[in-house]
Amino acid sequence: MSAAGPPEAGREAPRVAVARLRSRAGARAEVRGWVYHLRSSGKIHFLQVRDGTGIVQAVAVRGEVPEPLFEAVGALTQESSLLVRGRVREEPRAPGGAEISLEEMEVIHRAEGYPITPKEHGPAFLLEHRHLWLRSRRQAAILRVRDAVIGALRDFLRKKDFVCVDSPIFTPAACEGTTTLFAADYFGEKAFLTQSGQLYAEAAAMALGRVYCFGPTFRAEKSKTRRHLTEFWMLEPEMAFATLEDVMDLAEEMLVDAVSTVLETRKEELKVLERDLGKLESVKRPFPRISYAEAARLLKESGIPFEEGGDFGAPEEAALSQRHDRPVMVHRYPHAVKAFYMKRDPADPGKALCVDVLAPEGYGEIVGGSQREDDYETLVARLAEHKLPRESFEWYLDLRRYGSVPHGGFGMGLERTVAWICGVEHLRECVPFPRMLYRIYP
Ligand code: 4AD
Ligand code: MG
Repeated sequence: MSAAGPPEAGREAPRVAVARLRSRAGARAEVRGWVYHLRSSGKIHFLQVRDGTGIVQAVAVRGEVPEPLFEAVGALTQESSLLVRGRVREEPRAPGGAEISLEEMEVIHRAEGYPITPKEHGPAFLLEHRHLWLRSRRQAAILRVRDAVIGALRDFLRKKDFVCVDSPIFTPAACEGTTTLFAADYFGEKAFLTQSGQLYAEAAAMALGRVYCFGPTFRAEKSKTRRHLTEFWMLEPEMAFATLEDVMDLAEEMLVDAVSTVLETRKEELKVLERDLGKLESVKRPFPRISYAEAARLLKESGIPFEEGGDFGAPEEAALSQRHDRPVMVHRYPHAVKAFYMKRDPADPGKALCVDVLAPEGYGEIVGGSQREDDYETLVARLAEHKLPRESFEWYLDLRRYGSVPHGGFGMGLERTVAWICGVEHLRECVPFPRMLYRIYP
């Protein structure tokens, strides 16, 4: 190929991502990827090549391509890596809107006996092969939605003047109670993997006003449910000079923004996931806001057995969320069942100024937040009530010693949010390499 002129015009085959092939219709292109699927009749091969951006069908017709090429295509194996060249044709029925008439092919590496075949595999087998399972159309779609959600959240927060200030992973103390801590040996000292970056985000909010942290968090939760991971990602905004109302407003606006961004930018992926788009399109402001007391009354009316004063479990959350076509915000839970740092409602000291956002369709709690206790003496008393070691929290108490202000924030569970947006049953598919009770491989 020379820059000088096009003696080869029309023969050039620049490398093109599958997602952009359509714009090359009528011209030649090269795609680099892996064999996703091969279907053949005697006279024609339909070769599906995936390159990470999409899947394209390359068609080879016997008699129209050199016989050795036709034979080589027929001998391809699933997940072999290769390079194909050919002319791009617009094909409205194809997922990306384009097809390739195969003209040349180079096999880069021949894969033998790829373990994941088009037949159905059980979840245990797939999880054991998670490193390969990621290559499936469905898993790739989920990861793309996850990426879009992360991007949307970061963009949204930046536009609202939030600064990303990340929290440490190794911590000296519990944030969300002592029962779910993973301990680590930190040069002879006991440390814990963080359950939440919140306490550090509070310190950062006193420095920068509006901040968020976003990172992996850890809970040694012995619950083997579809909603629990032992390692999950949490996005935690924190605002100085904020009330519970401000916290609810932000959570609502952020969720609406994330859902609409996914609807705009990940249509193909939602189609692959067979997501009912109507369910996402109805996610608009305002979200219903009901108090714990009202929620308890509604549960009783619907005959759901539940002990007033306790936290909601999955069945209660499902029953409450199923009444609405959008997330519902339940606020002011009994103080006794919530974390030490939540501020009590001055109008009803038995209640905490907190909120849980419950996703529709039974996905349960995706966001938990609160206004924080900002009074020094009260916070000292709370630490004692919760039997937390005061020494480890002296730095946190400093925030109430030096210019304490009303403040609050929330934590949004990324995998739960992605599961709901994707309409995926289980959280294990919403994180690249899930960590769950009894699973740490691969
Ligand atoms: O309600 P949680 O425990 O709240 C906190 O950790 C606060 N410190 C956050 C804050 O205010 N900055 O957890 C927040 C969210 C939940 O609503 C849920 O979405 C998710 O984190 N989550 C989990 N996700 C997956 N697996 C688990 N085991 C989870 N535990 C909580
Ligand atoms: Mg919670």
